[in-house]
Amino acid sequence: MQKILVSAFLLFLSAHVAYSQTYAKNGMVVSAHATASQVGVDILQKGGNAIDASVATAFALAVVYPLAGNIGGGGFLVYMDAQKNATTTIDFREKAPLAAHSKMFLDENGDLIKGSNHNGLLSAGVPGSVAGLYMAHQKYGKLPWASLVQPAIDLAEKGYPLSWNLHNHAVEMYAEEKTDHIMPSLYKNESGEIVAWGELWKQPALAKTLTAIRDKGQDGFYKGAVAKEIARYMKENGGIITMKDLEKYEAVERAPIKGTYKGFDIYSMPPTSSGGVALIEMMNVMELAGLDSIEFNSAAYVHIVAEAMRRAFADRAEYLGDPDFNPDMPLDRLTSKEFAQMRYDNIDLTKASVSDSSQFGQLYDGHNTTHFSVIDKDGNAVSLTTTLEYLYGSKMGSPKLGFLFNNEMGDFNPIPGYTDTGWLIGTQPNQIQPEKRMLSSMTPTIVSKDGKPYLVIGSPGGRTIINTVFQTVLNVLEYDMRIDKAIEAMKIHQQWMPDKIYYEEDLMSPDTRDILIQMGHTVEARENFGRLMGITVDPKEGYYVGAADSSGPDAAAVGY
Ligand code: GLY
Repeated sequence: MQKILVSAFLLFLSAHVAYSQTYAKNGMVVSAHATASQVGVDILQKGGNAIDASVATAFALAVVYPLAGNIGGGGFLVYMDAQKNATTTIDFREKAPLAAHSKMFLDENGDLIKGSNHNGLLSAGVPGSVAGLYMAHQKYGKLPWASLVQPAIDLAEKGYPLSWNLHNHAVEMYAEEKTDHIMPSLYKNESGEIVAWGELWKQPALAKTLTAIRDKGQDGFYKGAVAKEIARYMKENGGIITMKDLEKYEAVERAPIKGTYKGFDIYSMPPTSSGGVALIEMMNVMELAGLDSIEFNSAAYVHIVAEAMRRAFADRAEYLGDPDFNPDMPLDRLTSKEFAQMRYDNIDLTKASVSDSSQFGQLYDGHNTTHFSVIDKDGNAVSLTTTLEYLYGSKMGSPKLGFLFNNEMGDFNPIPGYTDTGWLIGTQPNQIQPEKRMLSSMTPTIVSKDGKPYLVIGSPGGRTIINTVFQTVLNVLEYDMRIDKAIEAMKIHQQWMPDKIYYEEDLMSPDTRDILIQMGHTVEARENFGRLMGITVDPKEGYYVGAADSSGPDAAAVGY
C-alpha cells in the first residue's frame, strides 16, 4: 500500500510543472540564463543600481545565451526610478539600412521571395543594442561602464560550461542547417567540434569585440575596427549595412505608454513597439468585462480575452509603426478608457466576431527574443527585452567579431498594401523605408502601486509577446496570483489574422474548447508561448519575489 502511495505521489510530482519563486530582500535579476542573472546580482552587490545590473546582464547574455542575447540585435528598456517616481524608456530597435526600400524582398511580380526577409544578411537591421545600453548607462548608471562590460569579457575569454540545453541546441542546429549559414565558431571548441555538455565554451573573437566596447563605449562598435569589419563582412556576404549606417545609429529615449487598471499604474513600451499600446488597450477592455463574475480560464473568460486581443491586433496593424515616420499615430486615443468602452461594447458575449476591423467601430467615432527583469535595493526597476528576431537571428556573423546579426527586417510589412488571412500584414505605417525602425511586439512592462514598482515583467515570443505579457499582468493585478503561478497559467493568443485562438497545449480542457468552437471560434494548440521573467514587490514588507518561466531550462531568478 505504502509503495502504491509513493508511486502515486511521484506520478503527481512528475505530472505537475516544477515551478517556484525566489525571494530576496535587496535586489534581484531574473533572466533566461542563470549565469547572466548572477552577473547582474554581483553588480548590485557591488553597489550598482538596476541600470548597471541590466547593462552587465545584457552583455553577459550576449555571451552565454547567443540564441537571443546579443550585441547584433536590438531591444527596448523601461526604467522606473522609485525615489523620483519617474519612468522612462529607451528604444534601441534596429533600423532599416540606408539602401533599404519597400520592395526589397519582392520578385518582379511583386510577390514575396519566400524567406528572403528572414534569411541571410539582407534581413539584418542596423543593430541597436550597444547604443541602447550605452545610453542607459550614460543617463542613469552609477558604476563605471568598463566594470559592467568586463564580466561578459571574462565569460567569453575564460569560457563557461555549456548547458545540456544549449549543447542540444547546437547539435540540432548543425544537423539542420547548411553550415555556411552559421557563424563557424558558434558552439565550437578549438578543435572545431561542437562543445560538449559541461565543456567550457570560449569565444576569443567576441571577447575582442567586447573589449573594444568596454574601452570606447558606443564608438567601439559603431566606429573604428569593429564597424569596418561589419561593413566588410556585409558587403562580401550579401548585406547592405555600411559604415555610414553604423555611424548614424542612435538609441532614442521616449516617454513610456501609460495606463491604469483598478488602482495600478502600468508603464510599457511606446512605438516603435506596439506592445505597450496593445497591452493598455486590452487592460482597459478587461476593466469593463466584469471579471468578478467570470471564472478564470472558463470559455466565457477565454472568449472575452480573445475578443480584446482581436481588436487590439487589428488596431496595431492599422495604426502603429516607427514614430519618427508616423508622427500622427493616435496613441492617446488607442489607450483611452473611452476607446476601450467602444471596443468592449462591440463584443458579443455569446459568439465570436470575425476579424474584420471595419466592424469594430471607427477610431474617432465612437523565434527569438529574450527578456529580463531587474530590481535594486532602492526599488528602482528595469524591464528589458532584446531580440535577434529568430533564434540566432540571421545565423550569420563575422568569425573575426564573434557575434550574430539579427534578421529583424522580417518584422517590417514586406508587401506594401497586401494583408492576407494568414500572418502577412501590408499596412502603411510599418512598410520599409531607409532608417525606419521596424514595428515590434516586445512589451517590457513595469506596474506600480502608490508610485512604487509592484510588478516587473516581459517575455519573448514574436507577436505572442503582447498577449503573454497582457495575461500575466491581468493574472497578477486582477487575480492577485503569485508571480510563478501567473507566469505558468494557461495563455491563449489571438492576433486578428489568422482568425484563430491558439492555446497552450494540454492546458485547455476539452469542454472549454468545445464551447469556444460552438461560439464560432477556431482553436489550435501550440506548444507554449513566451518565456516570461517576472518580479513582484510585496507592498507591505517590501521583499522581492521573482520567477522564471519553466519553459527556459537555463533560466533563473537570482536574488540577494
Ligand atoms: N522580433 C520580435 C519583435 O520585435 O516583436
